[in-house]
Amino acid sequence: MPRRKFPGPYRLAQLSAPFALVPMISVKKTMDPADTVLREIEEMGRRSFIPSIGPVKGRILAEVVREHKPRKILEVGALYGYSAILIAKNSPAKAEITSVEKNPEHARITEQNIERAKLEDQIKIIKGDAMEILPKLPGPFDLVFLDAEKTQYLDYLKAVEDKLHQGSVVVADNVGVFQDQMQNYLHYVRNTGRYRSRTVETLLEFSETTKDAMEISEKRY
Ligand SMILES: C[S@@+](CC[C@H](N)C(=O)[O-])C[C@H]1O[C@@H](n2cnc3c(N)ncnc32)[C@H](O)[C@@H]1O
Repeated sequence: MPRRKFPGPYRLAQLSAPFALVPMISVKKTMDPADTVLREIEEMGRRSFIPSIGPVKGRILAEVVREHKPRKILEVGALYGYSAILIAKNSPAKAEITSVEKNPEHARITEQNIERAKLEDQIKIIKGDAMEILPKLPGPFDLVFLDAEKTQYLDYLKAVEDKLHQGSVVVADNVGVFQDQMQNYLHYVRNTGRYRSRTVETLLEFSETTKDAMEISEKRY
């Protein structure tokens, strides 16, 4: 039986999947604005490297967020807002995310992306150096994501540690590639008994060969 020809947006779908006629234009129109922003940043990372966690580590972070259902979240290091948007998308509806970003241009782009993702009610960007800002932030925090200056991870943690509770989770990025710069942090979360800590091995963002890891540390007391 000859195949019917379909006009316009259905035609491409027909060529690749004859039994699933997808009106492609309307799929694009109904895409969640947060997903659109995430896909754009991923595309940017694929074209030329950017140090955003990207989709592979993003899945690990999203899984932690979905498991722990944090309501108050702190991020240190926003870049363009990828991880903040991803955390917001996977958090309970009323979760509040505070992200601290030192570079004014990164903070400006992040704010634009958050607005485009329609998440401005959930994510607040604080511009400035985390070392000055963290001690002033009101807690408690259910989840902290560390992804700024690698040699300062332990300082960031200590600056907010009294705002964590039993069960709070701290996720630290780049504990593979930059492990030499954060030995003090890794020793603290792995060996002091204050945290139940595990290392999840993965790949460096937007790389298919360079190994990296994330440290996921749950506060015990
Ligand atoms: C690796 S990028 C963050 C990537 C982002 N978390 C993501 O996955 O999309 C690190 C960011 O931390 C910021 N940063 C570095 N040191 C900082 C500090 N002391 N306080 C606040 N932000 C800092 C940098 O400007 C940069 O934008």
